[in-house]
Amino acid sequence: MAQVILKKVNKVYDKKVHVVKDISLEIKDKEFMVLVGPSGCGKSTILRMIAGLEEITSGEIIIGDRVVNELTPKDRDIAMVFQNYALYPHMSVYENMAYGLKLRKMPKADIDEQVQKTAAILGLEEFLDRKPKQLSGGQRQRVALGRAIVRKPQVFLFDEPLSNLDAKLRMQMRAEINKLHQQLDTTIIYVTHDQVEAMTMGDRITVLHNGIIQQCDTPLNLYDHPRNLFVAGFIGSPAMNMIKGKITNDNGLTFSTTGIKFPVPQQLQDKMKAFAGKEVILGVRPENVNIDQGSEITANVEVVEPMGNEIIVYLAIGDNHFLMRMEERVPLKPGDKVNITFQDTHQHYFDAASEECINYSL
Ligand SMILES: Nc1ncnc2c1ncn2[C@@H]1O[C@H](COP(=O)(O)OP(=O)(O)O)[C@@H](O)[C@H]1O
Ligand SMILES: [Mg+2]
Repeated sequence: MAQVILKKVNKVYDKKVHVVKDISLEIKDKEFMVLVGPSGCGKSTILRMIAGLEEITSGEIIIGDRVVNELTPKDRDIAMVFQNYALYPHMSVYENMAYGLKLRKMPKADIDEQVQKTAAILGLEEFLDRKPKQLSGGQRQRVALGRAIVRKPQVFLFDEPLSNLDAKLRMQMRAEINKLHQQLDTTIIYVTHDQVEAMTMGDRITVLHNGIIQQCDTPLNLYDHPRNLFVAGFIGSPAMNMIKGKITNDNGLTFSTTGIKFPVPQQLQDKMKAFAGKEVILGVRPENVNIDQGSEITANVEVVEPMGNEIIVYLAIGDNHFLMRMEERVPLKPGDKVNITFQDTHQHYFDAASEECINYSL
């Protein structure tokens, strides 16, 4: 069993910089958990505390069924892969992978078996005699993975391991790490600032902001049911449209702002009652903005991006700018006027004051 549990973990640097705030998280055995958030939100600090490279200020970390607070990194049975995965330049691929096992005084035959097996998993068999500088970036990254895998740790920790690779290679490695997770069947905690990476790799994703957990759920639940404005804006590309407006009550609740006015969807009327007279932010994803000739909401077309599989249309109503994403080939051009609706079942309302989602439900 290699679950990882964090209980009210805090990190304060130099007695004043509070960068990780009361993080509680249960990562299940064999789960692929992604920690995602903007740069500086505390991801690496959390990972380093799990690895034992950074002391925790308060709280408890459990790996398997042991509290590891007092254990050194080498006693925690974890392996870590960083963004800067410096390989030993003077050693061959084989030696790079074998090195950690040698240090642990593993018998030669066992080392050989482990290295060969790992090389096969990673498609590195034909490169075992090469030096790192004779490899491509992707191959080097695979050696770095191999170095971690040969140790058969209970838990893998990844800190932005793909950030140094170009876009195409990153996509390829993404899929490879996914496959690896299925093959190795171990717990993975993976840190990234890239929401696409998070969405495509994680069984679950924990979204962090300013050292605080914003939401932890499956990729699709985060996408469909963001708990607050931050998660709504962070997950998804292009981002969710955010339109500031007001709820008024005239024979039922209405959302309105310059040039936009429509009744709050029937199924949300009760939930939104307390917000009559208040400012809210309407969140609607670009794919949930639809052309509707019968609608009274008229938008100006500003830019059209014909991607092929989809068309992204930049729209404006007064000061509100937002995107529409459509799969049909509707011939729109800048300067056109188009009537649109926001899909009833895909409207997210956020309290402008607290930024919490008012109609969050799962
Ligand atoms: N050794 C340190 N001393 C003081 N502040 C630090 C130290 N290491 C990191 N920080 C600060 O902690 C915050 C979180 O850093 P980090 O965990 O590296 O963020 P992330 O990995 O999400 O980009 C940042 O504001 C960073 O400047
Ligand atoms: Mg980092």
